[in-house]
Amino acid sequence: MDIGVDLNPKNFNFIATRVYDSCGVNLDESKVEMLRSRLIPRLRELGFMTFKEYICFLENNYDDEEFKLVNSITTNFTSFFREKHHFDYMQEVLIPQWLKEKKDSKTIKIWSAGCSSGEEPYTIAMSLLNAMPQLEYWDVKILATDIDTNILNMAKKGEYNKEKVEDLDKALVKHWFKPSETKPDTHIQVSPKIQKMVHFRHLNFMHDWPMKGQFDLIFCRNVIIYFDKETQARIMKRFSEYQSSGAHLFIGHSESLHQMSETYKLIGKAMYQCVGGTHAKH
Ligand SMILES: C[S@@+](CC[C@H](N)C(=O)[O-])C[C@H]1O[C@@H](n2cnc3c(N)ncnc32)[C@H](O)[C@@H]1O
Repeated sequence: MDIGVDLNPKNFNFIATRVYDSCGVNLDESKVEMLRSRLIPRLRELGFMTFKEYICFLENNYDDEEFKLVNSITTNFTSFFREKHHFDYMQEVLIPQWLKEKKDSKTIKIWSAGCSSGEEPYTIAMSLLNAMPQLEYWDVKILATDIDTNILNMAKKGEYNKEKVEDLDKALVKHWFKPSETKPDTHIQVSPKIQKMVHFRHLNFMHDWPMKGQFDLIFCRNVIIYFDKETQARIMKRFSEYQSSGAHLFIGHSESLHQMSETYKLIGKAMYQCVGGTHAKH
């Protein structure tokens, strides 16, 4: 018998419900093959031939297995300078604005929410350094969070296959990357200056958010697309508790907050501005 042939509607629904409850990712019936291909390596690892055995195992070991299930399901595709116009806007509009408006406090806080393997927060750091020569005199914090513990470990390392930077400007790569110490032929490493600016943390949008303070800019791109409308709206409401009026939120190009949040006003392609955060007491 082939491994995992019994992903019938009952077994699929059982696993999809666990995934939804754990991380909010909404798997409809069109995702049967995706779920099968993502979980077969785990079945193999556990020595199971059927989803029936896997489900029985899940029922008895969920505390330990939940992370592995969630890590297998999350889609981690990302790249440096993905949806580049967000970084152009940051450099051309937001940074000059912050330099004026925040000249007394000299603090900037940015959150890459759903940062995957780190390309997004590292691109934010590069953009800040490019457009802000005076940055060392400022208190600039980039928080980068994700639910996927494996991908976060990769992100923290800051080491990437050279293919990941082959389409980037050569001067930029020379400036912000160095050859990997362990795999110099195939990999490059983000420079320590960039790496130092980013603080990676594990965070599940469905659980408590332990951070304090307000973010001037939140990137939550290509994440909410996996959630249903209700969950999306709940997350946007929680973002607004971490943003003051005038702060910005960037989402992915194929996502929209249309009819979902009155707190965020569309100001450009996949770019929103907060028009009255709910200001939770942090
Ligand atoms: C496709 S990646 C997006 C990466 C990056 N933001 C970009 O646009 O290139 C989506 C990320 O969202 C994370 N994610 C999914 N569900 C999550 C949840 N409930 N809490 C936090 N992160 C989650 C995944 O682990 C994944 O790394």
